[in-house]
Amino acid sequence: MLELVPKTHDESRQGEAYAPAATDTTTYAKKFYIESYGCQMNFNDSEIVASILEKEGFGATRNYEEADLVLLNTCSIREKAEQTVRKRLGEFRRIKEANPGLLVGVLGCMAERLKTKFLEEEKLVDLVIGPDAYRTLPGLIEEAETGQKAVNVLLSREETYADISPVRLDSNGVTAFVSIMRGCNNMCSFCVVPFTRGRERSRDAYSVVAEATDLFERGYREVTLLGQNVDSYYWTSPDNTETVTFALLPERVALISPLLRVRFSTSHPKDITDEVLFTMAKYENICKYIHLPVQSGSTRVLQLMNRTYTREWYMKKVARIKEILPDCALSTDVITGFCTETEEDHQDTLAMMDYAKYELAYMFAYSERPGTLAARRYTDDIPEDVKKRRLNEIIALHRQHSLLGMQKDVGKTLKILVEGTSKKSEDELYGRTDQNKVVVFPKENYKKGDYVIVKVTAVRQAPCWARLSAKDNVR
Ligand code: SAH
Ligand code: SF4
Ligand code: F3S
Repeated sequence: MLELVPKTHDESRQGEAYAPAATDTTTYAKKFYIESYGCQMNFNDSEIVASILEKEGFGATRNYEEADLVLLNTCSIREKAEQTVRKRLGEFRRIKEANPGLLVGVLGCMAERLKTKFLEEEKLVDLVIGPDAYRTLPGLIEEAETGQKAVNVLLSREETYADISPVRLDSNGVTAFVSIMRGCNNMCSFCVVPFTRGRERSRDAYSVVAEATDLFERGYREVTLLGQNVDSYYWTSPDNTETVTFALLPERVALISPLLRVRFSTSHPKDITDEVLFTMAKYENICKYIHLPVQSGSTRVLQLMNRTYTREWYMKKVARIKEILPDCALSTDVITGFCTETEEDHQDTLAMMDYAKYELAYMFAYSERPGTLAARRYTDDIPEDVKKRRLNEIIALHRQHSLLGMQKDVGKTLKILVEGTSKKSEDELYGRTDQNKVVVFPKENYKKGDYVIVKVTAVRQAPCWARLSAKDNVR
């Protein structure tokens, strides 16, 4: 069962989770095993890697013991994310000792951040490949098979993998992610992403629409357009006759079919425009849900973070969203304990949460990342116990808000998209509302991919999450 409020603490979204992925390997000569860490874009990259490898005769397996190649697609966002990968590499060392022919590769943001240092520090690693170099994987594998260490961490200004159709790994067959851009040009002072992912570039709008159309034709009913900063999406056709901004792209995807839901993430508060909000208002199938990371509620801290907006500016943006899209749900990311953060700054963050009433929040204690602006300019001076206490206060407040948000839905009649069978009961299905809340309801004759109108009857609660339950399905 998916949770309505995924674990609302430090480790909820990026950096720590992994999902071993598999395809049908019967037709492939060799097998690879891939674990992904970090953000959705990294998981989507693993699907691009799977596509490249399949063409080379590798099928994905969920069992690393039968693999010829083990890949870890890594994340550097917080120190803990890197520690998790190091620990996992230690486990693969033992497996490699028993099977010396096995190749172990590190992909993604840690590969980019540490480059050849990885090979010095982790002797068992055979391949190190950065996020823009996946096309060179086949050649690098050949090189590694001859016993050499193979590395490619070149970043690109053009690579978007636009022409590569990702192999959907462990998919529910209903919802899928489509990357629309890569890299990031913002320089939030705490963030390692601009260093690990390089310059921002937007993917050909036609290839985005073609990928979404193909997904729809294969039965998918929801696509989430992904980018670190989707609102700065800007694509110009090679002959310069056409420009597509982010106000247009979700519209083009929404027009594929009214039965295809469109979501997107992440919106930087400085970049989301009224035009985007109007596009959302115009199409019923563009979900009324915006991930709008605030990071801090204090203007002083926001300035140190180089977020380029103030507390008041952010509040105005929230008000504008509610004005144009009264039912729009908001989610956020919060960093607590950033350099010099005072109790007053912390109270400003709590007050901001009270103002915005986020349905979902990903909350983190600040983790200094080498090479970032903050690491170079400021001292990581908030003691760990203070960070932890502030984080707990933020989490506790958020739980109240998310519960309130769900209680508001009780009694409402909502349309949900069915994603699968409830883990708790074979007789129940679960699906999501437009606002991304999970609803469980009696199965009857419904199936995955159906839209069902349900009447929400209650909020089901457990210690750290809650979801809605419904009956009286209305066809
Ligand atoms: N591009 C997205 C976020 C990418 S990283 C955006 O701009 O919002 C996801 C989240 O991880 C960030 O929003 C931030 O809350 C958190 N994060 C990034 N660097 C961090 C750090 N050094 N310590 C703690 N949390 C961090
Ligand atoms: Fe990092 Fe800021 Fe870019 Fe998001 S917008 S990826 S937080 S630098
Ligand atoms: Fe992590 Fe890289 Fe994503 S650092 S959050 S995997 S862009």
